[in-house]
Amino acid sequence: MKAKRCLVVIIFGLIIVLLFYHLFTEPSSDNQNGLSPKKAKGKDLSDKSLDEYLRSFPRNATGLKLYKNFQKAPFTPGSPKTVVVVTYQRSGSSFFGKIFDQNPNAFYVYEPLDALYTSIYGTAEGWNTPSDITSFWNGSERIPPSDDVDKVAHFLHSLLHCKTDDLPTEFFRHKYWAKMTGAFQTQQKPYSACLSKLDRSVFRCGDILPESQCPARLGEDWHKLWLCKQSLIQSYGSAYLRYQLCNYETRQSLEPCIEILSQNCTSAEMRVTKTVRATMPSIRTLLEIDTNVRIVNLVRDPRAVALSRMSFFSTRGSFSKNNRILEAKIFCRSVTRDLNLFNELRQQHPGKLIQVIYDDFVKDPQEYAKAIYEFLDSPPPQETLRWLSINTKGKRNSTNIADQWQSRIPYGEVRLINEFCKEYLDLIPYPWA
Ligand SMILES: *[C@@H]1O[C@H](CO)[C@@H](O)[C@H](O)[C@H]1NC(C)=O
Ligand SMILES: *[C@@H]1O[C@H](CO)[C@@H](O)[C@H](O)[C@H]1NC(C)=O
Ligand SMILES: *[C@@H]1O[C@H](CO)[C@@H](O)[C@H](O)[C@H]1NC(C)=O
Ligand SMILES: *[C@@H]1O[C@H](CO)[C@@H](O)[C@H](O)[C@H]1NC(C)=O
Repeated sequence: MKAKRCLVVIIFGLIIVLLFYHLFTEPSSDNQNGLSPKKAKGKDLSDKSLDEYLRSFPRNATGLKLYKNFQKAPFTPGSPKTVVVVTYQRSGSSFFGKIFDQNPNAFYVYEPLDALYTSIYGTAEGWNTPSDITSFWNGSERIPPSDDVDKVAHFLHSLLHCKTDDLPTEFFRHKYWAKMTGAFQTQQKPYSACLSKLDRSVFRCGDILPESQCPARLGEDWHKLWLCKQSLIQSYGSAYLRYQLCNYETRQSLEPCIEILSQNCTSAEMRVTKTVRATMPSIRTLLEIDTNVRIVNLVRDPRAVALSRMSFFSTRGSFSKNNRILEAKIFCRSVTRDLNLFNELRQQHPGKLIQVIYDDFVKDPQEYAKAIYEFLDSPPPQETLRWLSINTKGKRNSTNIADQWQSRIPYGEVRLINEFCKEYLDLIPYPWA
């Protein structure tokens, strides 16, 4: 009897300990997709977020007139058009990306840079969060080192020019191919299907890296991450050597699939990628090395972003401690830095960069899609227009998500957020509410 009671107590104790462990170890910051590091189980909320965006669309867009006279630099004839959508977390980019995903003549890749960071730092796939790239965990601003800035630029260039040999193996086996293809990069289904037939060992090289030396999450311990980065470069120590050998061997198995990706990329008239993990200095470098590249900078009302980030479980917390004002402050700080450089780049490269305000885009996605394709000097694909028409129909009149924050954030808070985000709002020519 006593033993039984003892057992019950132990089991209850264990459950409580596990509950607490789960509560306090759930990495709660900017994981784009709510995936968990290495072996832990995680939720994938990306489909929900797309639904959320699709739920409601109000009336007329006001910013479209900005496009009436936009500058348009000519593309080099005969060369493929390359496009990067540079945006920020919770800014509506998954939905916006459908403009390209639904174009049968385009090659579109969703969030490729997570894989680059995994290849540099040995972190777990899906855990290279945008906030970790631009903020330290104590809330201080982090300026990405020039070495990483360059790597990002060259990675994007190789991707957009189908130079698969120059892309790391980590990219080709990344879990986003399985997780994100169904909803966000539907054209990549043949590649994703090819991957799914491969031996599981291809996806297990990452297990070789010692987590004690290479933290699973970017930003967790930059000193360790730096050491891990050096060890990876030099293949120093047996684990790192075995890891590189594993990459080398599995690359052979990946090659037939890579061939599919490569052909799809090469035959596309337009190659597009969207990312929340690139900072504007990388785009400056990219504009220098790729004269045919066009940049679409997608931004959203920071007050709507703050609201969205707080209700998105995986972005809640670690920097802002669940405080919406701090969340907005940290977000506005890094985006403002980008916006300043964006405006400079727009002067230096006339007609190559364009800014889209998400809050305006949702008011008339079809007209916006037409304007963006005009900027890219291409007729808007019927498939894209049809997709937008089907997926926004009947939803125009429900709650207006773009303006939801006005009723859901208390006035005093809005005032503080407006203060922290003043420069952000000032840098974008839009009649903000
Ligand atoms: C939208 O714009 C069109 C053309 O400018 C105008 O005729 C129409 O009344 C506007 N609709 C709304 C709901 O504002
Ligand atoms: C925050 O952390 C970074 C990296 O560890 C450090 O360089 C910086 O000085 C810290 N800032 C504050 C205010 O503690
Ligand atoms: C790439 O593959 C997808 C899926 O098969 C296809 O829909 C798309 O048209 C292809 N793109 C090109 C440019 O061939
Ligand atoms: C659309 O919104 C307007 C104003 O909010 C409302 O008066 C109208 O009943 C709505 N229409 C439908 C079909 O829901």
